[in-house]
Amino acid sequence: MLGAIWAQSLDGIIGDGSGMPWHLPEDLAHFREITTGHPVIMGRRTWTSLPERFRPLPGRINYVLTTREAGDWSEGARVVGDLPDPTLLPDSPEVWIMGGGQVYAATIDEVDVLEITLVGVQLGEALGDRAVHAPEIPAEFGMVSDTDWLTSERGRLAVGENTGSELPLKYRFLRYERKEAA
Ligand SMILES: NC(=O)c1ccc[n+]([C@@H]2O[C@H](COP(=O)([O-])OP(=O)(O)OC[C@H]3O[C@@H](n4cnc5c(N)ncnc54)[C@H](OP(=O)(O)O)[C@@H]3O)[C@@H](O)[C@H]2O)c1
Repeated sequence: MLGAIWAQSLDGIIGDGSGMPWHLPEDLAHFREITTGHPVIMGRRTWTSLPERFRPLPGRINYVLTTREAGDWSEGARVVGDLPDPTLLPDSPEVWIMGGGQVYAATIDEVDVLEITLVGVQLGEALGDRAVHAPEIPAEFGMVSDTDWLTSERGRLAVGENTGSELPLKYRFLRYERKEAA
């Protein structure tokens, strides 16, 4: 099973190019719970956006897609020049694509499952050209679960003020699966 997991604003934004536009501990816990024990695949920019002390992500083989040579920058990761064939990855029936925008867009037609955290903010105006977007969800996917809106206890935005967003942050977890072909 190949899945993709991301958190996005209501207007489909996942990052500002160098990091996530929020700090949402409940989403990080959700991400950890879903991906731990399984290989994760990410683009080089997402790898370098992780704070050094968090990489490689523990309990997961970290594949990093890049056209560059492995080096000090990639210590702890398995550097790959092409998307690894998920069926050839060791010992795991699940593999998770974990960003960023380029890699989600390049793999959305291959994945079977989407785990999406919807964060109740609009960020387009605040981020402008820096915004990195989630891919469009293809019509072949159907939503199979959705929580109610939850309220974060310690979540905060990381894009400065003036987003007009209501705090505390609200979020909900959605799961989509590719519908069986009729
Ligand atoms: N909200 C979320 O859930 C979430 C999750 C992950 C990331 N993000 C955010 O997304 C942003 C980063 O996304 P991004 O779109 O800028 O970059 P990205 O997808 O993380 O990485 C892009 C890089 O991956 C490599 N790459 C991509 N496709 C490749 C291919 N087919 N073959 C070989 N290499 C390939 C290239 O590296 P080289 O240039 O080295 O060749 C490319 O520059 C950050 O703001 C991050 O915080 C958000």
